[in-house]
Amino acid sequence: MPSFSTLAFSFALLAYQCQAARPFLNEPDTGITTFLGTDTPAEASGALMPLDDIIAIPDFEFAARAYMSSANYSYYRTGAAGEFSMPAFTILIPFIVGYKILIGFQAYRSNLETYNKVKLRPRVLRDITGVPYTLNTTILGYNFSAPFFISPAAKAGKANAVAEPSLFATLSINEIAAAKAAGQVTFQQIYVRSKLSSVQTDFDEAEAAGSKAIVWSVDNAWGPTRSRSARWTHSENDYDYLPSTWELYETLKNMTSLPIIPKGIQTVEDALLAVEHGAPAIFISNHGGRQLDTSQSTMEIIMEIYNNAPQVFNQTEVLADCGVRYGTDVLKLLAMGVKAVGMGRPFMYSNIYGADGVARLIDMMKDEIIADAGNLGIANVSEISPAALNLNALQPLIYTMS
Ligand SMILES: Cc1cc2nc3c(=O)[nH]c(=O)nc-3n(C[C@H](O)[C@H](O)[C@H](O)COP(=O)(O)O)c2cc1C
Repeated sequence: MPSFSTLAFSFALLAYQCQAARPFLNEPDTGITTFLGTDTPAEASGALMPLDDIIAIPDFEFAARAYMSSANYSYYRTGAAGEFSMPAFTILIPFIVGYKILIGFQAYRSNLETYNKVKLRPRVLRDITGVPYTLNTTILGYNFSAPFFISPAAKAGKANAVAEPSLFATLSINEIAAAKAAGQVTFQQIYVRSKLSSVQTDFDEAEAAGSKAIVWSVDNAWGPTRSRSARWTHSENDYDYLPSTWELYETLKNMTSLPIIPKGIQTVEDALLAVEHGAPAIFISNHGGRQLDTSQSTMEIIMEIYNNAPQVFNQTEVLADCGVRYGTDVLKLLAMGVKAVGMGRPFMYSNIYGADGVARLIDMMKDEIIADAGNLGIANVSEISPAALNLNALQPLIYTMS
């Protein structure tokens, strides 16, 4: 007769296998395949779906997969290492002492799926008629029309949203400056290259081009393993960088008058160090799951900071990105104290339609945030708090600092 704990363990294993069999949906079914009368668009067919048929933000990825060459789509879509493996999930058997099985996999998928584990707590009978006028926010004192922005993306390209061009964008810092809309605020993303003199050149160009801040990506200590893009012999960027350390952060601060925001903070310890080093803002990101597979999703990192050092959200401005595809994802991060939320791939996919696609994405995300906040009973988006969330499903996964 198997013992109770053996039975419980077998049950847990079965539950694990059932969940593992659940297919990962790259874009959830929002009816697009039925509407178009096609299952999945033939990859790299070159066909461009009419922009008017794009109804939901994930539709842009559906459209991009058909339109782009497989090599280019793979570069955008790739995650690090085992991105085909299981989604993040948890099996918890709290009733068996000592049998707490926590399994979390896969940074790319986990970024997308962890938001679903946070449940919303709608309040009713509240006057939310003014909610459309409450999307405005500030980052580092600059005004923006919405609490989301375009994350930096290498090899990529309106509406008063902050854009953070990558150092490895297809266009140079100066070309991007020339293409800016009047009054558009941009922050310049940089990697610290192998010589300080090159960094100085990047800083000087960013300042001259009118960038308002430097976003220093610090989550790429080593070149990543990216099978999907490597398959297409896509060359990764040059990873010949100076060692990134907090001492280097101090040096960089003396090389520019612009504020420097470290991008890629993923632990409460590093968030605290950033505050100690006077970072005016920190950018929580795991690089869209492209650097270190099985690293924590953004929602988990934000909760780790909130649980262990909530003061961080008052001591510096917290920005965050990764896996944000819905208005509810944005609201969940804002509720935890995040000031503004970035999107990477959705903007890159929408850019296959040029400025019209990007503008449509911005409008769709604004509309979603307004509708979701209204249905959540939030009268003012900037005043959303953790009380809007039920975090119980994620809480057991969150790291506690000793
Ligand atoms: C194709 C691609 C290129 C990227 N290049 C950069 C880069 O040069 N610098 C950087 O800091 N982050 C880069 N990122 C990461 C994004 O800034 C952002 O953190 C990530 O895409 C957010 O996740 P999401 O795509 O799920 O929204 C890149 C992401 C993609 C998809």
